[in-house]
Amino acid sequence: MTDVSSIGPRSGDDRPVLTNRQGHRIYDNQNQRTVGARGPATLENYQFLEKISHFDRERIPERVVHARGVTAYGFFEATGHLGDEPIARYTRAAPFRGPGKRTDVAVRFSTVIGGRDSSEAARDPRGFAVKFYTEDGNWDLVGNNLAVFFIRDAIKFPDVIHALKPDPVTFRQEPNRIFDFMSQTPECMHMLVNLFSPRGIPADYRHMQGFGVNTYKWVNERGETHLVKYHWIPKQGVRSMTEEDAAAVQAGDLGHATKDLQDAIDRGDHPEWELRVQIMTDEEHPELDFDPLDDTKVWPENEFPALPVGRLVLDSNVRNFFAENEQIAFGTGVLIDGLDFSDDKMLVGRTFSYSDTQRYRVGPNYLQLPVNQAKNAEVRTNQRDGQMTYHVDGEGENPHVNYEPSITGGLREDQYPTEDEQGPVITGRLTRKRIPRANDYLQAGQRYLLMEQWERDDLVRNFVTLLSQCARPIQERMVWHLLLVEDELGLRVGEGLGIAPEDVAHLEPLASQDLTEEDRKRLSNLG
Ligand code: HEM
Repeated sequence: MTDVSSIGPRSGDDRPVLTNRQGHRIYDNQNQRTVGARGPATLENYQFLEKISHFDRERIPERVVHARGVTAYGFFEATGHLGDEPIARYTRAAPFRGPGKRTDVAVRFSTVIGGRDSSEAARDPRGFAVKFYTEDGNWDLVGNNLAVFFIRDAIKFPDVIHALKPDPVTFRQEPNRIFDFMSQTPECMHMLVNLFSPRGIPADYRHMQGFGVNTYKWVNERGETHLVKYHWIPKQGVRSMTEEDAAAVQAGDLGHATKDLQDAIDRGDHPEWELRVQIMTDEEHPELDFDPLDDTKVWPENEFPALPVGRLVLDSNVRNFFAENEQIAFGTGVLIDGLDFSDDKMLVGRTFSYSDTQRYRVGPNYLQLPVNQAKNAEVRTNQRDGQMTYHVDGEGENPHVNYEPSITGGLREDQYPTEDEQGPVITGRLTRKRIPRANDYLQAGQRYLLMEQWERDDLVRNFVTLLSQCARPIQERMVWHLLLVEDELGLRVGEGLGIAPEDVAHLEPLASQDLTEEDRKRLSNLG
């Protein structure tokens, strides 16, 4: 908050003097230099031209997704164990070496589809991105609040985002475009059942869960790997909004969630999340009815319990929103020793996309910015130059040697901590195929059945409201999918749209989908 007592001219003013970026003192910040009081202005007017031309460049491209968000800082504190066992049995990653070990973090919460100034009460997934500044370098865990995602192959990401973003001609978000895509993409059903339920509009950022969503790996001292999924559970509890709640909130403030987080931190009410993980052995798990690398699925918690491994506390706000929130850069490739990728086809595609967009959005030296630096590890590279080079990363004894190998004092490679790369050996031929065990409807139906009555009612109402604005063939295909998800859901949405099961019984399965026995049984009951 500005201290108003300090506003206004003061005699004996001891405030620091304004300069330009060359360090020149500014004597007049109110008037350009002109020929006479009425002008004209002159072109050598360095002070004015510097000021205005920097202003002209104040904006950088906003993020193509997750443009609106807020960053805060805090720490992660490890428990040091997983259930009854020392966590080292599963991972050697630095932040988990506990108990009680603390690691600095930056967290950015966000909405996905809207622009930088859009409403934070929109029905939209929320981003939950955590940067751990560890002594082994940075680790980013870039997740969302809904546990699953729309698609399972990164090649479809531009399509799903185009369908959700405003129409390229009218610039309106159009239900017809959204459900045109979704109705042809059955793997979206689990995400849709979440997104159109009250969970699709979290009350604010402090009262929502977070999930890594994609499957990662943990690596222990012996190089053995396990598959892992991450869950952030808010100590504040989970709260959501209905459409009516959200309309009331955004009528007064488009940025209520940012304000809520910043105000809570300012008054010392530091929000906290528990980190829990589910793990399974690093193999295909043919016994499961889904693929553990499929990000449209959750892992059942009765078989794979979510065990606490630490807590996250946010205790300070950014000092400059642009430098620390617009320029912070997260990515799924940013892993440290003890963590690894799985072959999840979304995860590998995402991993290319993040640093690619950041080199474009922020610039090739985005990792030299303070908020992105590996501030608790030493950085020594042979990377040099490029736009906005801020400094030379740590170098070897001889500054002339910016290459490797060398016998004259440059940097050397480290030795692998284990004998070989970790994880199972994989063989196969190059192909373009869907993963088996797509099972697009079962977990979506289970999710619906887990909902309380008011949540089911809200979900049905939201589907009906939006599908009412869609073309009839899109409505029919969506009702067909929802009947396969869960009879009651399909019947109720169909009723709202005036579409009975027999009206959709003629629809053939999509060429792009594989049905389970259970799906086929449901289909045969439609007519
Ligand atoms: C941001 C791509 C899937 C969570 C972004 C950005 C891109 C991107 C280009 C903007 C980054 C920036 O400008 O700094 C992709 C691609 C995906 C994918 C290609 C799939 C193939 C996902 C999934 C999740 C997710 C599944 C959730 C688990 C996020 C979050 C951010 C983000 C939280 C915002 C990070 C921040 O706060 O700066 N994504 N994304 N993305 N994505 Fe993804």
